[in-house]
Amino acid sequence: MIFQENNKFNNENVNLNKDTSIILGIETSCDDTCAAIVKNGKEILSSVVSSQNEIHEKYGGVVPEIASRKHIEMIDVVISEALSLAKITPDDINAVAVTNRPGLLGSLLVGVGAAKAFSYYNQIPLIAVNHLKAHIFANALANDEINFDLPQKYISLIVSGGHSSLYLLDKNLVIKEIGHTVDDAVGEAFDKIARYLNLGYPGGPVIDKISKNANPHFIEFTRPMIESGDFNFSFSGIKTALIYKTKKFPDLMKEENIADLAASFQAAAVDVLVQKTIKACKKFKVDKVLVSGGVAANSKLREEFSYAADKENIKVYIPPIKLCMDNAAMVASLGYFEFKKGNISNPDIDVYSRTDF
Ligand code: KG4
Ligand code: ZN
Repeated sequence: MIFQENNKFNNENVNLNKDTSIILGIETSCDDTCAAIVKNGKEILSSVVSSQNEIHEKYGGVVPEIASRKHIEMIDVVISEALSLAKITPDDINAVAVTNRPGLLGSLLVGVGAAKAFSYYNQIPLIAVNHLKAHIFANALANDEINFDLPQKYISLIVSGGHSSLYLLDKNLVIKEIGHTVDDAVGEAFDKIARYLNLGYPGGPVIDKISKNANPHFIEFTRPMIESGDFNFSFSGIKTALIYKTKKFPDLMKEENIADLAASFQAAAVDVLVQKTIKACKKFKVDKVLVSGGVAANSKLREEFSYAADKENIKVYIPPIKLCMDNAAMVASLGYFEFKKGNISNPDIDVYSRTDF
């Protein structure tokens, strides 16, 4: 390990009272190479995302080995671009925050390696952050009503290609998982259905788009686990039901039915997510919901949450689409929060495919 010689950035050495903190965020947990510059945890000076969608499209999903190789090619370019767009130099950066968990190990290693090098070369603190917590922080970055310094309870729904979980955030921002998918993540199910329907990759955006003028009641799929007493989800059942039905009735796969099939799948998946989230609000007596992750970009999900919020008298916060997807601005924003608290990482931090918060 190269950077183990000393950890001069312990809590005492960091000036926590600075008026301005400019954080470089780095995110490479899956297939997007991202860097962003954020001022005081709130103001995005730049946010650069290099997507690998075109590369992984032909495989119908992310190929980890290819993803990490592409991160290696892109990471310096993306960091330079973030600095240049923010019109700053490395000297202006106060700390570097990087996702080191959870994610694809090879992908995480590239971002963490770059962050360690940047931190060491520029003699600034390194802050390792949790990708899921960063998704939650995208909500605070997007909306001034959310201030994690204030004691407040939230239900958080994180829905992406790798995760579909419900969390309870208590007044001290302790994050407790209260439910998770027992099979596919919802984004993964969107991607698999899109692949089956020959709609390309990633599946979420295209299913969202073609469902807009389609019939969501074309097939009324059973909503898995909607009545179960827990807060877990299952999405592979809806996917299997769609495949089973179309194998049994091949005419359903005719061109004119594809959008209706997609819309019916989307309606079932969204229904389960919204209803279970509302149920969690009632059980834990929470009236604020934070939705994040790539699938939070889904227009039907946003619409249904908006209806539910009005009906149930709760507030649902969903970031703008760019901040729903993987990005480094959310990493820098969480990094600022940890920086203020003095949560500086050792230079020998590792990467983890799975972790608690
Ligand atoms: O958070 P994210 O960018 O990366 C992960 O951490 O997984 O999420 C990517 C996932 C993909 O599965 C993609 O299909 C899905 O988010 N997604 C959507 C939409 N946009 C992206 N799913 C449904 N509707 C969308 N509009
Ligand atoms: Zn993500």
